[in-house]
Amino acid sequence: MILYYSATGNTKFIATELAKKLDDQCVDLLGRIRNNDYSALHSDKPFIVCSPVYMSMMPRFMSEYLKNTEFTGNRAVYFIANSAGYAGITSWEARKLFKKKNMEFMGCAEPIMPNNYYVSNYKAQSDDEVKECLFKAFDKIDEIANSIQNCEKLKTRHVFFIERLITFPINSYMYKYKISAKDFKVLDKCIGCGKCEEICPLRNISMKEDKPTWGDKCSHCMACIGSCPTNAIEYGDVTRQKGKYNFEEYRHFLNEIR
Ligand SMILES: Cc1cc2nc3c(=O)[nH]c(=O)nc-3n(C[C@H](O)[C@H](O)[C@H](O)COP(=O)(O)O)c2cc1C
Ligand code: SF4
Ligand code: SF4
Repeated sequence: MILYYSATGNTKFIATELAKKLDDQCVDLLGRIRNNDYSALHSDKPFIVCSPVYMSMMPRFMSEYLKNTEFTGNRAVYFIANSAGYAGITSWEARKLFKKKNMEFMGCAEPIMPNNYYVSNYKAQSDDEVKECLFKAFDKIDEIANSIQNCEKLKTRHVFFIERLITFPINSYMYKYKISAKDFKVLDKCIGCGKCEEICPLRNISMKEDKPTWGDKCSHCMACIGSCPTNAIEYGDVTRQKGKYNFEEYRHFLNEIR
């Protein structure tokens, strides 16, 4: 069973490609995370968990979900932590989490995907850079699928003690002082479809008079701003300058190269 959370489509792409290659079932965790639904998950095949990386770790809502959920059946678990280039201490965190559940940790792969965090200091990638990144990701996903097919452990990058030492305070600082929904705004071109409200993993958006309003529980996942069908959400002035990312805009490119 392949479990995933994806805000802007990168992780969903990895999970669905793995499901095709491994002839396995894919489960989108969005609904379970939104509803605090920690009911047990059963799989006869090894579990494969796919997650994006936020501030060098798993998204907090993802680790919270995984900690609270019981996994029954097969005791092996693979972890796929995709990031824009640095997955930080995510593999260490995942290993620790699943060891506590008495599961056999089969390693963590770190495919690199396009950066979706446009509201941060990251530079926006050009169209060509995004395409090159996706092109390379195909090979990496093949490599991961082959290892899982052959029941091999995934080659896992060593996480140094110094990385843990640095990551925890920075991660906490970011969540406390930088991650906030206060700069989100909605433009007149909003059609009141409610999609942003439905896809927020933290239920941080409510519709008032057919327009979204943001609460104070944001994780900066970028699902709302990246998925609006009329491009009606902006974040301060940053996204007006840099644009926004959604994997679906590159689907036609992937269909052409495969
Ligand atoms: C809040 C936030 C924090 C992020 N932090 C990191 C990071 O520490 N390192 C990194 O390489 N990429 C980081 N990224 C980029 C994402 O991990 C990457 O683009 C991922 O593929 C997004 O997956 P998704 O499209 O399935 O949501 C971050 C993205 C977000 C939204
Ligand atoms: S997804 Fe976009 S168009 Fe739909 S309600 Fe939200 S802001 Fe408005
Ligand atoms: S409000 Fe925050 S947590 Fe909710 S979808 Fe938007 S960026 Fe993600």
